[in-house]
Amino acid sequence: MARILVTGGAGFIGSNFVRQLLSSDPSTTIVNFDCLTYAGNLANLSDLAGNPRHEFVKGDITNREQVRAAMKGVTDVIHFAAESHVDRSIQDSGPFVHTNVIGTQILLDAAREAKVAKYVQVSTDEVYGSLGETGLFTEETPLHPNSPYSASKAGADMLVMAYQHTFDFPAVITRCSNNYGPYQFPEKLIPLFVSNLLADESVPVYGDGMQIRDWIHVLDHCRGVEAAWRRGKPGEVYNFGGRCEIPNIQLTKLLLSLLGKPETLIRYVKDRPGHDRRYAIDCSKAESELGWAPQVPFDRGLAETIAWYKANTAWVAAIKNKDYLSYYEKQYGKA
Ligand code: NAD
Ligand code: DAU
Repeated sequence: MARILVTGGAGFIGSNFVRQLLSSDPSTTIVNFDCLTYAGNLANLSDLAGNPRHEFVKGDITNREQVRAAMKGVTDVIHFAAESHVDRSIQDSGPFVHTNVIGTQILLDAAREAKVAKYVQVSTDEVYGSLGETGLFTEETPLHPNSPYSASKAGADMLVMAYQHTFDFPAVITRCSNNYGPYQFPEKLIPLFVSNLLADESVPVYGDGMQIRDWIHVLDHCRGVEAAWRRGKPGEVYNFGGRCEIPNIQLTKLLLSLLGKPETLIRYVKDRPGHDRRYAIDCSKAESELGWAPQVPFDRGLAETIAWYKANTAWVAAIKNKDYLSYYEKQYGKA
């Protein structure tokens, strides 16, 4: 019977993962370890209250004693906890290096001491850098991170590889493209734009809006992480993507039309410094070796996500009421 330490399980992807695994595998117990940064939110887990297979521990991955204590009896580790927003890493890279690099090192040491059976490092396609107009990121693409966020994630990946190689530590790494879905903090493109548009506020499109992202539904990513945990081979990297490349401006116009809002709400703003132009994932290795494939078509996933944000305006309001300001609002005022 697996007892999994899931880090960052009160965030966007972690909370979706915890909910999905608890409902699909009755033999699993989860220790959900999260220090509740601005992005961590117990409201993301409210439906799991009282579930005897879910134990929430408020703790920080950069605190060795807290991590060691939480590791007692744990058989496996799935590591989501991170500082995750590129714009914030441009404002201040300190928390990114601290949590994403040092926190991962502390977690690796504790997991090694505990002799876990499997350790999954949840990484990102951003470690590969930026693509030109053609081509896809494969697991063999050299690491070329361009933002402080992606540099800190690449640093963590290198540590995981080194522990696997040096200590025969049973680690796998997953690298996924842009997620969307319920419970995503309204600083990332889709939840920020949907929540602004629901309030008839404008949406800040960075630069010319021709940057391309490859969108995947969060539950497809979660299924991939679970497959990597169950069937991934130590030392291997698995890419996940949705085969769904869209320029930001096209996605913005799609959101406007789905919400019935006018294009006058588009506000072009100063570009993100060092902005990566295009991400696109070759996920054929995960398909052939893990038996995984993305299942949620973008039109259905996006419609369901918009419906979720419409039905959960109180969830968004509770976040925005905590003096939450998006990166652009902080830098330049309301778009
Ligand atoms: P998120 O910001 O929504 O959640 C991060 C969670 O980690 C929060 O609950 C936060 O409280 C917790 N956390 C942060 N620092 C911590 C610390 N020091 N100790 C304990 N907990 C801490 O992030 P997300 O979008 O859910 O991303 C989860 C993981 O997936 C990250 O590692 C991210 O790099 C990776 N990822 C995200 C995406 C995406 O599109 N969002 C895509 C690929 C990979
Ligand atoms: O690719 C995976 C990564 O995707 C994850 O590792 C990160 O944790 C996650 O935050 C995400 O990074 P991005 O920087 O791609 O996501 P974001 O939602 O911040 O931006 C998506 C695109 O939209 C990007 O080109 C920047 C642009 N953008 C974003 C915001 C917030 C805008 O034009 N306006 C905005 O207000």
